[in-house]
Amino acid sequence: DKVTALIVAAGSGTRMGADTPKQYRRLAGKPLVRHAVEALARHPRITAVRVVIGAGQQELAREALAGLDVGPLITGGAERADSVRAGLAEIEDGIVLVHDAARPFCPPEVVDRLIDALGKADGAVPVLPVADTLAKGDSELRGTVNRTQLLRIQTPQAFHLEDLRYAYDEAGTGAPTDESTVMQHAGLKVATVAGDENLFKLTSPRDWERAEMMLAARMI
Ligand code: CTP
Ligand code: MG
Repeated sequence: DKVTALIVAAGSGTRMGADTPKQYRRLAGKPLVRHAVEALARHPRITAVRVVIGAGQQELAREALAGLDVGPLITGGAERADSVRAGLAEIEDGIVLVHDAARPFCPPEVVDRLIDALGKADGAVPVLPVADTLAKGDSELRGTVNRTQLLRIQTPQAFHLEDLRYAYDEAGTGAPTDESTVMQHAGLKVATVAGDENLFKLTSPRDWERAEMMLAARMI
């Protein structure tokens, strides 16, 4: 079966606050997006990798991905959902794994769990429990939320391509933050599999430091 990894790398990295968008900054000497692509490209069940980049990022992307087999680069859009949509339009049939370029470390077991789960669901996402107590509130607490029924959702997120296309068509022009939300709105069944702490997303400078330290300590 055909399994395509679609890496979305068309963001601007505002919260990282660096001059260059985070996906093109070097993490332990290698561009962040290249870490993400390589982690999926080396998985034996992934047959193709494609990358969605920002309109003005061709030069940066070509350099960051030099020598990797990612096919023609795809131009993304203003919101993440636009970038995913643009990517879906360029992929043929089979399974698609939508993944953030900002998540450099993807354990192969997570990919196996996702693909296996698609046997009995329309989609599958990696999840982790919430460790902290959660509450509503502003300057004072306005009620605690039961965290045992809450999940943290990571990427890659796995779908049968035709299901995800259908779900995006149903969604219209809104900009949900991830594919699993779109799928649920379309009434499709999204299974959960165990995620992994190493799949964390590099959002802030603190996340970047953590990733650098993990690589330096050979924890990855
Ligand atoms: N992304 C994308 N297209 C967009 C917005 C985001 O492809 N229009 C991608 C990012 O490149 C990233 C992933 O979606 O790999 C997750 O998004 P996030 O971590 O929010 O990255 P940015 O949007 O770049 O960062 P920020 O929100 O801080 O600006
Ligand atoms: Mg963003």
